[in-house]
Amino acid sequence: MSTIKSDDSTARAYPLPNDSIIETRRLDAQHSVFSIRTGGLHRASFQDNSSPAQVLDLGCGTGIWASQFAIENPNSKVLGVDINPPLVDDARINIRPPDCSFVVADIEQGWDFSSSKIDYIYMRMIMLAIKDWPALLKKAFIHMNPGGQIEIFDGLMDIKADDGSTPDNSAAIFWFQLSKEYLAKHNIAWDLSAGIPQKLTDAGFEIVEDNTYKMRLYPDSQDPESDRAWVGAQYRNDIADIVHGMTKRMRVDLASRLSSEEWDTLESNARREILEESEQRGFHTTLFVRVARKPIV
Ligand SMILES: C[S@@+](CC[C@H](N)C(=O)[O-])C[C@H]1O[C@@H](n2cnc3c(N)ncnc32)[C@H](O)[C@@H]1O
Repeated sequence: MSTIKSDDSTARAYPLPNDSIIETRRLDAQHSVFSIRTGGLHRASFQDNSSPAQVLDLGCGTGIWASQFAIENPNSKVLGVDINPPLVDDARINIRPPDCSFVVADIEQGWDFSSSKIDYIYMRMIMLAIKDWPALLKKAFIHMNPGGQIEIFDGLMDIKADDGSTPDNSAAIFWFQLSKEYLAKHNIAWDLSAGIPQKLTDAGFEIVEDNTYKMRLYPDSQDPESDRAWVGAQYRNDIADIVHGMTKRMRVDLASRLSSEEWDTLESNARREILEESEQRGFHTTLFVRVARKPIV
């Protein structure tokens, strides 16, 4: 497995490190968490249960979703696209279902990778990476067949307590407040994903499904062996890893907010709270899965 350099110019303001096997493991574990929580690989349903012919996974990361979709849909031709060459190299080496391939490209630039019209586009957790959503969605619309579907899976960059409050005495809540300041500096709104249905409609799509998922950072089950219990426990690790990964960049861009020692303390306290106190504090995040269709006429 290659490693990915966080100082790669392609990373731009993308806040997560993408610089280690830890990040690739995080993405693969997160894939399982999301698949269990949302009831499968995708929410889109396909006419007469037939597989979409041409499929794109934009910002495909390790390629795990593209590969599993290709295995479940052997009649689909699936292309995973990512800006990060080492990730794509690893996907090419590790993933081999027939008709599943990977390409390095910036999805905000020209779409040379797609010569055929697309029937289904999947995008998961790339909200923070995209500079111009209206332009990207317009490009997607133009490159799709009528009746084709687009699915966007993402969430709010926020945690809350179960009663909806954001208590002052929480290092984790304070860390999320600083993460919003970091994103704002890069012109990224922490609640961007809340506006995706409107952006889809503006690009010409019809909304088919708009699902909201409360994601608890603790096991949501009396049965410790159940999938639901695993999802909460694993998701808590996922968020703690995100805190670690993003702090590296936040402490540089927001150096005036805290001293180096204060950053160290904040990261360690926020992670500890998430890992040890999420259940008691009722911490959760919010995810959305939207499916939209290009009209037939
Ligand atoms: C958080 S990861 C999500 C990966 C995958 N979709 C998943 O859910 O496992 C975001 C991915 O988007 C990729 N990315 C960021 N900006 C991109 C761009 N402009 N074009 C293509 N890929 C991009 C990153 O390299 C990273 O692999």
